[in-house]
Amino acid sequence: MSNNKLIIFDTTLRDGEQSPGASMTRDEKLRIARALERMRVDVIEAGFAAASPGDFEAIKAIAETVKESTVCSLARASEKDIRAAGEAIRPAARGRIHTFIATSPIHMEKKLRMSPDQVVEAAVRAVRLAREYTDDVEFSAEDAVRSEMDFLVRIFDAVIQAGAKTINVPDTVGYALPDQWAARFRELIERVPNSDKVVWSTHCHNDLGMAVANSLAAVMAGARQVECTINGLGERAGNASLEEVVMAVRTRRDAFQIETGIDTTQLVPTSKLVSSITGYPVQPNKAIVGANAFAHESGIHQDGVLKHRETYEIMRAEDVGWTTNKLTLGKLSGRNAFRTRLQELGVELESEEALNAAFARFKELADKKREIYDEDLQALVTGVGEEAVETLRLISLKVCSETGETPHAQVVLSVDGEERHAESVGGGPVDAVFKGIESIVQSGSALTLYSVNNITSGTDAQGEVTVRVEKDGRIVNGQGADTDIVIASAKAYLNALNRLRQPEQRQHPQLGDV
Ligand code: KIV
Ligand code: ZN
Repeated sequence: MSNNKLIIFDTTLRDGEQSPGASMTRDEKLRIARALERMRVDVIEAGFAAASPGDFEAIKAIAETVKESTVCSLARASEKDIRAAGEAIRPAARGRIHTFIATSPIHMEKKLRMSPDQVVEAAVRAVRLAREYTDDVEFSAEDAVRSEMDFLVRIFDAVIQAGAKTINVPDTVGYALPDQWAARFRELIERVPNSDKVVWSTHCHNDLGMAVANSLAAVMAGARQVECTINGLGERAGNASLEEVVMAVRTRRDAFQIETGIDTTQLVPTSKLVSSITGYPVQPNKAIVGANAFAHESGIHQDGVLKHRETYEIMRAEDVGWTTNKLTLGKLSGRNAFRTRLQELGVELESEEALNAAFARFKELADKKREIYDEDLQALVTGVGEEAVETLRLISLKVCSETGETPHAQVVLSVDGEERHAESVGGGPVDAVFKGIESIVQSGSALTLYSVNNITSGTDAQGEVTVRVEKDGRIVNGQGADTDIVIASAKAYLNALNRLRQPEQRQHPQLGDV
């Protein structure tokens, strides 16, 4: 295997989905998987097949659709998980099973309640079984950062003999420091027998803000796969951010002397897609994909950039996809142009009804907004296909907001097909609307996040609202977009409440027993 190729393993659809409220529908996962394929990601971790029937189906659909990237499913080191993962990836042109077990004393003793010998035995059994489904088997030692080196050497030797082709070393809790992490890789590569026959991989969490730095330190020490996510999404503080890893390696080729196969012009569009689907906004000062990443505020910087761009810019905005933000359609565009542009954006609406529904929304939007951009289209199709499970629907909304008066809302909803009315007041127009909705729905949930972002610039831009609600420990996000932000807010709240009404039986991969 080439020593100067860095494999990019994207886990937005698995570890990223473990962010609170970021769980995605099958169609949403498919849209992100297509975008990742377009970006030429090497491996897409599409989910955890044993988590739920929904996750199994999503992985299978991605395996059926994606042809250029390897499609992977996570599996704990148990027969049930490996078989589910093996079946889910069966249709893939290239399929991988990623099996893992915890190896740190604290995890083995307190979580798994297994002895080190039992852990090695389970890992070897899991890898052997996974090899019955595919030659491409990855093994991870969960909490490797707090595992004893001698034990890591022992378990990695055993799983390589059992047939693992990629050895992933995760900093599960985000505890590593770059120089120590690099030293760990150097020692493992030196001590593990046949280490040159496998790909060494790093998977870092961002609890101390060092996920990218640690991943890059591992690459310097010989890792040739980085596990990362779009926008750094992931469990708790998230994972290493794909766009930062890729652009660091590319911009500092002099230091890394390594290449990724990534089409970097897809970074910004994919970041926007993931943000709009998960409802996780990208902070403006986020490297590469934040709105300010290439904005120069001070006069001295602006002057310098105008005279010679490289005075203050180490990368070109167009190389990471900032200029792919194209004006695409207008009021007079027809159904075919609409369908074609959606296809170019990787959006395949499954049925004619879904296309018709999206086209009707497009026409409505085009009446209110002269210029429609790709971002508008992405927002427009988010949630299309969910109509089947939409038991709560906004019929109409009237809001009165006047200086010196208490904001007042009249809300009409369809609840399981029945029309229901409410009048309410609130601290502001959005508060009044939410109170009206809750007085009808009686969800008993708590609103834990409310945020508004403009999708494009200008005062006629669509506002994209994200809300997060929580009930009995279950957290869901909802999104809504409209040129009227009060209507966008009502749509987002109803989207979250609709999702909350759906039964959920998902298993968290890292909490259950093996
Ligand atoms: O953080 C972690 O250890 C993981 C493993 C399942 C690879 O996500
Ligand atoms: Zn992780």
